[in-house]
Amino acid sequence: MNSPSSKSLINENQKISSWRIFFLSLTTVLLLVLFWNVGNFKQDPFITETLSIQGEALTGSRLFKINCVGCHGISAQGLVGPDLHGATEELSDKKIINQVIRGLTPPMPSFEIEPQSMADLLAYMHSLN
Ligand code: HEC
Repeated sequence: MNSPSSKSLINENQKISSWRIFFLSLTTVLLLVLFWNVGNFKQDPFITETLSIQGEALTGSRLFKINCVGCHGISAQGLVGPDLHGATEELSDKKIINQVIRGLTPPMPSFEIEPQSMADLLAYMHSLN
């Protein structure tokens, strides 16, 4: 037989364990949010370096003719790959750099490139607008 006092003891224990679960979940969620943000805000050193360099559009256009025209066309008007006029208005520099060095969207390959050359390519693409 349950006396009233033992019943209230059980309820007290249940209360504590649901608070524990609540705080444990809360901590887990907060930690996940924290790690996700740290990963997001940590800028790629290649991108940071590229963005700190003043690119040369003329050199960039030469690099473009060697590496990119096969897919994007001789004047970047688009072929297999899309027209790149206005690409710098639609995409951030960071996104374009990622596009070139990471190969995120096959069939476009990833390019191993110096930050200076990447800055030149960016300057060329900005000059297309
Ligand atoms: C083998 C073919 C190929 C080569 C070589 C190539 N690309 Fe691409 N590129 C593509 C394709 C295909 C896409 C579209 C990918 C997609 O579906 O998002 C693309 C997309 C892009 C985009 C994004 C355009 C947008 O509006 O989303 C940029 C910027 C770009 N390429 C730049 C370059 C540069 C700079 C080079 C040379 C260093 C280069 N690409 C070489 C095929 C190529």
